[in-house]
Amino acid sequence: MTSTFSAPKDFSLELRDIIFAYPSRPMLLDKISLRMDTNSRIGLIGSNGTGKTTLARIALGLETPTQGQVFFMGAPVSAHTNAADFSKVRERVGYLFQNPDDQLFCPTVLEDVAFGPLNQGLSPENARITASRTLTALGLDGFEGRVTHKLSGGEKKLVALASIMSMLPSALILDEPTNDLDPETRTRLIRILGEWPGSLLVISHDWDFLTQVTNTVMALENGKLRQEDGEFFHQHRHIHPHGDVPHTHEG
Ligand SMILES: Nc1ncnc2c1ncn2[C@@H]1O[C@H](COP(=O)(O)OP(=O)(O)O)[C@@H](O)[C@H]1O
Ligand SMILES: [Mg+2]
Repeated sequence: MTSTFSAPKDFSLELRDIIFAYPSRPMLLDKISLRMDTNSRIGLIGSNGTGKTTLARIALGLETPTQGQVFFMGAPVSAHTNAADFSKVRERVGYLFQNPDDQLFCPTVLEDVAFGPLNQGLSPENARITASRTLTALGLDGFEGRVTHKLSGGEKKLVALASIMSMLPSALILDEPTNDLDPETRTRLIRILGEWPGSLLVISHDWDFLTQVTNTVMALENGKLRQEDGEFFHQHRHIHPHGDVPHTHEG
């Protein structure tokens, strides 16, 4: 019996003392530090507009912090001093965009999922084989020829996930992966991420989801990151047997 995903390789990506504001806007991130290691499983929760997506974009070099530093494999990376620095990060980190329409741009599912492996230098045949394997691992057999832009929101999310997993990343950063997912697809995603052996950072406002796929939850609020206390975390863990049935918390 082979596992769906290969064993993780050494990995570390760290944000250290990050301060960030968009031009002419108030400070968004106020000295934030966060570290992903080989086996990290971190959840990031917070209200809309608190800067969660911005934080992920800084980790990938898509935004440059006002102050502070990103470290990859223990060494500082900077888009200013060396434009290639962050390409090393992006080779190892699969980033699932908040909006799958920003991620998927090929006519068919197979082309989208094979695009990354092709870009990594695989032959068209090997890229196709890798893409098909990834689709199978995600329960998307039969989707190869589907027209990407006609998929449902949830299907697009899974195909976008396949398109990053096909590049065999060491880490996943998933931005609001449960948006648009029906309960069945959400359960499937929980299973997939349960099998994922690498580093994981999940941005979500879905508490139940985070408690099932991560083991530490950080909350971003007023520019600061704090670890959610175990009591709140624990309370939600006991809700799980009820699955996706809507529920409230009392007391
Ligand atoms: N390119 C940008 N320029 C100016 N403001 C932006 C830009 N991108 C996001 N913002 C603003 O920064 C804040 C944080 O955005 P974001 O990181 O997307 O938050 P979250 O993902 O937590 O909802 C929001 O107020 C948003 O409107
Ligand atoms: Mg966001």
